[in-house]
Amino acid sequence: MTIDFHSHILPCLDDGSASVEESVHLLDIMARNGTDLVIATPHFYCHEIDTKSFLSARQNSYEQLKPYLKPDHPKILLGAEVLYTSKLNHLDDLEKLCIEGTNYLLLEMPYLRLSNQIIDIVSQLVDCGRVKILVAHIERYLNFTDYSELEALMSLDVLGQLNSNSFLERKTKKRCFKLMNQGFVQVIGSDMHHEDRGVPVAKAYEVIAKKYGHDKVEQIKESGKRLLKDMETYEVIL
Ligand SMILES: [Fe+2]
Repeated sequence: MTIDFHSHILPCLDDGSASVEESVHLLDIMARNGTDLVIATPHFYCHEIDTKSFLSARQNSYEQLKPYLKPDHPKILLGAEVLYTSKLNHLDDLEKLCIEGTNYLLLEMPYLRLSNQIIDIVSQLVDCGRVKILVAHIERYLNFTDYSELEALMSLDVLGQLNSNSFLERKTKKRCFKLMNQGFVQVIGSDMHHEDRGVPVAKAYEVIAKKYGHDKVEQIKESGKRLLKDMETYEVIL
C-alpha cells in the first residue's frame, strides 16, 4: 500500500489546490502513480485561525470535493501541517489536528536555525503526551540549520517525513539518504500543492529501490501502515 503522508490537495484552503478541478487533477496524478491513500494536510497557522474555525473550513473544503472523487482516486484521510510556535503546548484542541484516526501531528518547523529553545519546546510537547510528533520534510531545514541541530531535534521521541521531490535532485537526495541512514525517517509525502509543485511518492520509491532495492521500499511502506495504526514504527535504516 502506497501512502502519501503530506499534501495540499483540498481546494481553496491554503497555497495548495486553488479549486475543486485542480484537486481532482492532483488526485488523478496520484492515482496514475499508484498512491492508495493520501493524508490531506492543509497548513495550520495558529496566529491566523483558531482550531475550531480551521476544522470547519477543512470539512467544508472536503465536502465540496467529495462529489467529484473517482473510484480510482486515493482514499483521503484528514490532517494538518501545523506550524511550530512556542505556544503549541497550550493550544486548545491540538489533538484534533492529528492525522485522522491517529495521535500523530504533522509538525512544520520554522524556517530558521533550530535553537536549543525551539528544541526544548518540541521536547516539552513530546513529554506532555497530548500528541505524537511527525516532523514534516525534515531535509528542508538543512537550508536553515546545522546538521547537528537537526540531529538534536530528530533525536527526540519524534518521527520524520521526507518530501518525494527531494529524491530527484543530487544535493537533496544525498541529504535524504543520510537522514534515512540515521533512522530519522519513517514516511514519505509528496507535499503536493500543484501539478508543478510536488511529485507522487512513487517517484521517491523508484530512486530508493534503484539504490537500495525493493525491500527497502517495502520497509518504508510498512512503517507508514504502522504509523496509521498508531503502532510503534520501524526505524528505516539503510
Ligand atoms: Fe506542506
